[in-house]
Amino acid sequence: MSKAIQIAIDGPASSGKSTIAKKLAKRLAYVYLDTGAMYRSITLLALEQGIEASDNQALRALAEASEIVFKVNADGQSVWVNGKDVTDEIRTDQVSQAVSAYSAVSDVREVLVEKQRDYTKGGQGIIMDGRDIGTVVLPAAELKIFLTASAEERGQRRFLENQAKGYSEMNLEELIADIKRRDLYDSTREDSPLKPADDAIILDSSDMDLDQVEEAIFAYVNKVLSQN
Ligand code: DC
Repeated sequence: MSKAIQIAIDGPASSGKSTIAKKLAKRLAYVYLDTGAMYRSITLLALEQGIEASDNQALRALAEASEIVFKVNADGQSVWVNGKDVTDEIRTDQVSQAVSAYSAVSDVREVLVEKQRDYTKGGQGIIMDGRDIGTVVLPAAELKIFLTASAEERGQRRFLENQAKGYSEMNLEELIADIKRRDLYDSTREDSPLKPADDAIILDSSDMDLDQVEEAIFAYVNKVLSQN
C-alpha cells in the first residue's frame, strides 16, 4: 500500500477549498482540517469578548486557552469551541468581515499553526485547507494545490450558499466587494500572506464545477500516491 501523504489546499475566500477538501478526505479516508474555521472561531470569541484586533497579548491568551474541536457527522463536520457548537455562527457575514484582521495577528497565527501541526503527529493521511498550508504549516506536504477562481464567480457561489442557509445580510455586489477586500488583505498582510507555494499546482476553477475540480485534484493525488 502507498504511504499516507499530506495534502495542502490553499486559495482565496470562497474558492471551494473546504468543500473539495472534505470530499477528498472522505474518499481517501484521511483526516480533514479546516484551518479557516480555527481563525473564524478565535474571531468569534474575540468579537463576543470585545477584544480588539490590535490587542496582541489578549488575542494570544485567547487562542492558547481556546479548545477547538472538530466532530465528524453525517453532513461533514461540526466545529466546537470550549464545549459550544459554533458551526453556523462562525460563517455569518459579521465573522467573515472581521476574520481577516484577526487572522493577520502573528500571536494568533503562531498558536494556531502549532495546533494545526499537532494534527500531523500520528503520521496519518491529512488534508488541510487554508491560506498558508503549503507555504508555512506543512512546507513538506507531498501535494500542494492552490485553488482559485475569479472574485465574481466566488461572490456568486457565496451568494447562493448564503441564500440556501437563509442569510441575507449582503447582496451580490457587496459580497463580491467583500471578497476582493479580503483577497487584498489576506495577500498583502505581512505574516504568512496568501500566495501559492513555489511547488504548488495552481488550479483555476472559474469554469469548472465541483465534480470537475474534485476529479482533477484526485488525479493529482493518485499520481503522487503512485510515486510514494
Ligand atoms: O477559508 P476561510 O474563508 O474560512 O478563512 C477565514 C479567514 O481566515 C480568511 O480571511 C483568512 C484566514 N485564514 C488564514 O489566514 N490562514 C489560514 N490557514 C486559513 C484561514
